[in-house]
Amino acid sequence: MDSGAVDAIHGCNQRAPCVEFMHGLLSKPLRLEQRGATSGDFVQGTSSVIWPAASRLAEYLCDHPELIKDRSVLELGAGLGLVGAACAAAGAKPVLVTDCERALPLLERNQALLAEDSVILNVSRLEWGLAEDHARILEGHPSGFDLLVGSDIILSSFELDKLFESCRALLSRSTDSRLLLAFEFREDWESIGNFIAWAEEVGMEVCHEELGDPDDEIYLYTFRWTG
Ligand SMILES: C[S@@+](CC[C@H](N)C(=O)[O-])C[C@H]1O[C@@H](n2cnc3c(N)ncnc32)[C@H](O)[C@@H]1O
Repeated sequence: MDSGAVDAIHGCNQRAPCVEFMHGLLSKPLRLEQRGATSGDFVQGTSSVIWPAASRLAEYLCDHPELIKDRSVLELGAGLGLVGAACAAAGAKPVLVTDCERALPLLERNQALLAEDSVILNVSRLEWGLAEDHARILEGHPSGFDLLVGSDIILSSFELDKLFESCRALLSRSTDSRLLLAFEFREDWESIGNFIAWAEEVGMEVCHEELGDPDDEIYLYTFRWTG
Protein backbone atom coordinates (compact mmCIF):
# COMPACT_ATOMS: atom_id res chain seq x y z
CA MET A 1 0.00 0.00 0.00
CA ASP A 2 1.22 3.49 -0.79
CA SER A 3 2.18 4.83 2.62
CA GLY A 4 1.64 8.37 1.34
CA ALA A 5 -2.04 7.49 1.01
CA VAL A 6 -2.37 6.39 4.62
CA ASP A 7 -3.33 8.86 7.31
CA ALA A 8 -3.06 8.20 11.03
CA ILE A 9 -6.58 8.14 12.43
CA HIS A 10 -5.88 10.00 15.65
CA GLY A 11 -6.09 13.11 13.50
CA CYS A 12 -9.18 11.47 12.00
CA ASN A 13 -8.66 12.53 8.42
CA GLN A 14 -11.96 11.61 6.81
CA ARG A 15 -10.71 12.42 3.30
CA ALA A 16 -7.74 10.07 3.07
CA PRO A 17 -8.44 6.86 1.14
CA CYS A 18 -7.05 4.71 3.97
CA VAL A 19 -6.89 4.80 7.73
CA GLU A 20 -4.33 3.04 9.86
CA PHE A 21 -4.46 1.93 13.49
CA MET A 22 -1.44 0.77 15.42
CA HIS A 23 -1.10 -0.43 18.99
CA GLY A 24 1.77 -2.06 20.89
CA LEU A 25 -0.28 -5.24 21.30
CA LEU A 26 -0.54 -5.76 17.55
CA SER A 27 2.18 -7.19 15.34
CA LYS A 28 1.10 -5.07 12.35
CA PRO A 29 -0.99 -1.94 11.84
CA LEU A 30 -4.62 -2.43 10.90
CA ARG A 31 -5.30 -0.82 7.54
CA LEU A 32 -8.78 -0.08 6.32
CA GLU A 33 -10.22 1.80 3.39
CA GLN A 34 -12.66 4.64 3.73
CA ARG A 35 -14.72 6.67 1.24
CA GLY A 36 -14.58 10.32 2.19
CA ALA A 37 -16.88 13.17 1.32
CA THR A 38 -14.91 13.86 -1.85
CA SER A 39 -15.22 10.25 -3.06
CA GLY A 40 -17.97 9.07 -5.41
CA ASP A 41 -18.64 6.17 -3.02
CA PHE A 42 -19.22 8.37 0.02
CA VAL A 43 -22.16 6.93 1.96
CA GLN A 44 -24.68 9.34 3.42
CA GLY A 45 -25.30 8.34 7.01
CA THR A 46 -21.61 8.46 7.81
CA SER A 47 -20.69 4.78 7.62
CA SER A 48 -17.97 5.24 5.00
CA VAL A 49 -15.52 7.28 7.07
CA ILE A 50 -13.81 6.84 10.42
CA TRP A 51 -14.92 8.70 13.57
CA PRO A 52 -12.67 9.60 16.50
CA ALA A 53 -14.64 7.48 18.98
CA ALA A 54 -13.77 4.38 16.93
CA SER A 55 -10.03 4.83 17.36
CA ARG A 56 -10.47 5.57 21.07
CA LEU A 57 -12.50 2.44 21.63
CA ALA A 58 -10.11 0.32 19.54
CA GLU A 59 -7.23 1.65 21.65
CA TYR A 60 -9.08 0.97 24.91
CA LEU A 61 -9.82 -2.62 23.89
CA CYS A 62 -6.21 -3.24 22.91
CA ASP A 63 -5.17 -1.77 26.28
CA HIS A 64 -7.54 -4.27 27.98
CA PRO A 65 -7.18 -7.50 25.99
CA GLU A 66 -8.56 -9.45 28.96
CA LEU A 67 -11.98 -8.01 28.09
CA ILE A 68 -11.97 -9.56 24.64
CA LYS A 69 -9.62 -12.55 24.48
CA ASP A 70 -11.54 -15.61 23.23
CA ARG A 71 -14.84 -13.80 23.67
CA SER A 72 -17.51 -13.49 21.00
CA VAL A 73 -17.95 -9.92 19.83
CA LEU A 74 -20.55 -8.13 17.72
CA GLU A 75 -19.97 -4.57 16.54
CA LEU A 76 -23.08 -2.44 15.88
CA GLY A 77 -23.05 0.38 13.30
CA ALA A 78 -19.51 -0.68 12.46
CA GLY A 79 -18.85 1.72 9.57
CA LEU A 80 -15.39 0.71 8.37
CA GLY A 81 -15.18 -2.01 11.04
CA LEU A 82 -12.16 -0.69 12.93
CA VAL A 83 -13.38 -1.57 16.42
CA GLY A 84 -14.27 -5.11 15.39
CA ALA A 85 -10.94 -5.42 13.61
CA ALA A 86 -9.08 -4.35 16.76
CA CYS A 87 -11.02 -6.93 18.76
CA ALA A 88 -10.17 -9.70 16.28
CA ALA A 89 -6.51 -8.68 16.12
CA ALA A 90 -6.35 -8.62 19.93
CA GLY A 91 -7.70 -12.15 20.32
CA ALA A 92 -11.51 -12.01 20.28
CA LYS A 93 -13.29 -14.75 18.35
CA PRO A 94 -15.58 -14.92 16.60
CA VAL A 95 -16.09 -11.27 15.64
CA LEU A 96 -19.14 -10.15 13.69
CA VAL A 97 -19.21 -6.61 12.32
CA THR A 98 -22.63 -5.28 11.38
CA ASP A 99 -24.21 -2.25 9.80
CA CYS A 100 -27.14 -1.36 7.58
CA GLU A 101 -27.35 -2.54 3.96
CA ARG A 102 -25.75 0.49 2.33
CA ALA A 103 -22.64 0.17 4.50
CA LEU A 104 -21.95 -3.47 3.66
CA PRO A 105 -19.91 -3.13 0.43
CA LEU A 106 -17.16 -1.16 2.19
CA LEU A 107 -17.33 -3.35 5.27
CA GLU A 108 -16.87 -6.41 3.04
CA ARG A 109 -13.97 -4.72 1.25
CA ASN A 110 -12.28 -4.13 4.61
CA GLN A 111 -13.07 -7.69 5.68
CA ALA A 112 -11.12 -8.92 2.63
CA LEU A 113 -8.19 -6.53 3.21
CA LEU A 114 -7.90 -7.53 6.87
CA ALA A 115 -8.07 -11.22 6.00
CA GLU A 116 -4.86 -10.74 3.97
CA ASP A 117 -3.23 -9.96 7.34
CA SER A 118 -5.02 -12.89 9.05
CA VAL A 119 -7.46 -10.64 10.90
CA ILE A 120 -10.72 -12.52 10.51
CA LEU A 121 -14.09 -10.78 10.64
CA ASN A 122 -17.56 -11.97 9.76
CA VAL A 123 -19.89 -9.38 8.24
CA SER A 124 -23.65 -9.23 8.51
CA ARG A 125 -26.46 -6.78 7.90
CA LEU A 126 -28.05 -5.58 11.11
CA GLU A 127 -30.67 -2.89 10.73
CA TRP A 128 -31.34 -1.96 14.32
CA GLY A 129 -34.52 -3.43 15.73
CA LEU A 130 -35.19 -5.69 12.75
CA ALA A 131 -36.38 -9.05 14.10
CA GLU A 132 -35.40 -10.83 10.87
CA ASP A 133 -31.77 -9.70 11.28
CA HIS A 134 -31.71 -10.64 14.97
CA ALA A 135 -33.04 -14.14 14.14
CA ARG A 136 -30.47 -14.71 11.37
CA ILE A 137 -27.58 -13.61 13.59
CA LEU A 138 -28.77 -15.63 16.57
CA GLU A 139 -28.97 -18.80 14.46
CA GLY A 140 -25.19 -18.93 14.67
CA HIS A 141 -25.03 -17.62 18.26
CA PRO A 142 -28.15 -18.88 20.07
CA SER A 143 -27.17 -17.49 23.48
CA GLY A 144 -26.05 -14.12 22.14
CA PHE A 145 -22.65 -12.42 22.25
CA ASP A 146 -20.26 -11.95 25.18
CA LEU A 147 -19.51 -8.42 24.09
CA LEU A 148 -21.37 -5.85 22.02
CA VAL A 149 -19.36 -2.81 20.95
CA GLY A 150 -20.32 0.39 19.19
CA SER A 151 -18.58 3.68 18.52
CA ASP A 152 -20.36 6.93 17.75
CA ILE A 153 -23.75 5.33 17.32
CA ILE A 154 -25.60 7.36 19.98
CA LEU A 155 -26.82 10.35 17.97
CA SER A 156 -30.21 12.01 18.30
CA SER A 157 -30.88 11.54 14.57
CA PHE A 158 -30.58 7.73 14.88
CA GLU A 159 -33.32 5.26 15.85
CA LEU A 160 -31.97 4.70 19.34
CA ASP A 161 -35.00 2.78 20.61
CA LYS A 162 -34.34 0.24 17.84
CA LEU A 163 -30.64 0.19 18.64
CA PHE A 164 -31.58 -0.62 22.22
CA GLU A 165 -33.86 -3.48 21.04
CA SER A 166 -30.94 -4.95 19.10
CA CYS A 167 -28.61 -4.67 22.10
CA ARG A 168 -31.15 -6.39 24.31
CA ALA A 169 -31.76 -9.16 21.77
CA LEU A 170 -28.11 -9.88 20.99
CA LEU A 171 -26.23 -9.48 24.29
CA SER A 172 -25.82 -12.76 26.16
CA ARG A 173 -27.75 -12.79 29.46
CA SER A 174 -24.64 -13.71 31.45
CA THR A 175 -23.50 -11.29 34.13
CA ASP A 176 -20.06 -11.44 32.46
CA SER A 177 -21.33 -10.04 29.20
CA ARG A 178 -20.83 -6.36 28.40
CA LEU A 179 -22.13 -3.68 26.08
CA LEU A 180 -19.45 -1.03 25.44
CA LEU A 181 -20.43 2.22 23.75
CA ALA A 182 -17.95 4.97 22.87
CA PHE A 183 -19.90 8.21 22.87
CA GLU A 184 -18.73 11.58 21.60
CA PHE A 185 -20.54 14.43 23.33
CA ARG A 186 -21.98 16.92 20.82
CA GLU A 187 -24.12 19.18 23.00
CA ASP A 188 -26.59 16.33 23.62
CA TRP A 189 -26.82 14.42 26.90
CA GLU A 190 -30.45 13.47 26.34
CA SER A 191 -29.84 10.66 23.83
CA ILE A 192 -27.35 8.76 25.98
CA GLY A 193 -29.50 9.58 29.04
CA ASN A 194 -32.54 7.94 27.44
CA PHE A 195 -30.50 4.92 26.42
CA ILE A 196 -29.24 4.50 30.00
CA ALA A 197 -32.77 4.80 31.39
CA TRP A 198 -34.00 2.04 29.04
CA ALA A 199 -31.10 -0.18 30.09
CA GLU A 200 -31.75 0.35 33.79
CA GLU A 201 -35.45 -0.44 33.29
CA VAL A 202 -34.56 -3.92 31.99
CA GLY A 203 -32.06 -4.70 34.75
CA MET A 204 -28.70 -3.39 33.57
CA GLU A 205 -26.23 -1.25 35.41
CA VAL A 206 -24.10 1.34 33.71
CA CYS A 207 -20.82 3.06 34.45
CA HIS A 208 -18.79 5.50 32.41
CA GLU A 209 -15.28 6.88 32.08
CA GLU A 210 -13.39 9.26 29.83
CA LEU A 211 -11.76 7.79 26.75
CA GLY A 212 -8.53 9.66 26.13
CA ASP A 213 -8.07 13.41 26.38
CA PRO A 214 -10.88 14.90 28.54
CA ASP A 215 -11.03 17.94 26.23
CA ASP A 216 -12.26 15.70 23.42
CA GLU A 217 -15.34 14.70 25.44
CA ILE A 218 -15.39 11.10 24.30
CA TYR A 219 -16.71 8.68 26.91
CA LEU A 220 -16.97 4.93 27.33
CA TYR A 221 -20.28 3.65 28.69
CA THR A 222 -20.21 0.07 29.96
CA PHE A 223 -23.50 -1.79 30.48
CA ARG A 224 -23.92 -5.14 32.24
CA TRP A 225 -26.80 -7.26 33.46
CA THR A 226 -27.19 -7.15 37.22
CA GLY A 227 -28.52 -10.70 37.46
C1 LIG B 1 -21.18 8.09 13.01
S1 LIG B 1 -21.15 6.55 12.17
C2 LIG B 1 -20.00 5.64 13.15
C3 LIG B 1 -19.32 4.57 12.35
C4 LIG B 1 -18.24 3.80 13.13
N1 LIG B 1 -18.81 3.09 14.24
C5 LIG B 1 -17.15 4.74 13.61
O1 LIG B 1 -17.16 5.12 14.79
O2 LIG B 1 -16.28 5.11 12.79
C6 LIG B 1 -22.72 5.81 12.65
C7 LIG B 1 -22.94 4.39 12.13
O3 LIG B 1 -24.23 3.91 12.58
C8 LIG B 1 -24.86 3.22 11.51
N2 LIG B 1 -26.32 3.26 11.68
C9 LIG B 1 -27.10 4.36 11.83
N3 LIG B 1 -28.40 4.01 11.92
C10 LIG B 1 -28.44 2.64 11.81
C11 LIG B 1 -29.50 1.68 11.82
N4 LIG B 1 -30.77 2.06 11.95
N5 LIG B 1 -29.17 0.38 11.71
C12 LIG B 1 -27.86 0.00 11.59
N6 LIG B 1 -26.81 0.86 11.58
C13 LIG B 1 -27.10 2.17 11.67
C14 LIG B 1 -24.40 4.00 10.27
O4 LIG B 1 -24.56 3.23 9.09
C15 LIG B 1 -22.95 4.29 10.61
O5 LIG B 1 -22.09 3.24 10.23
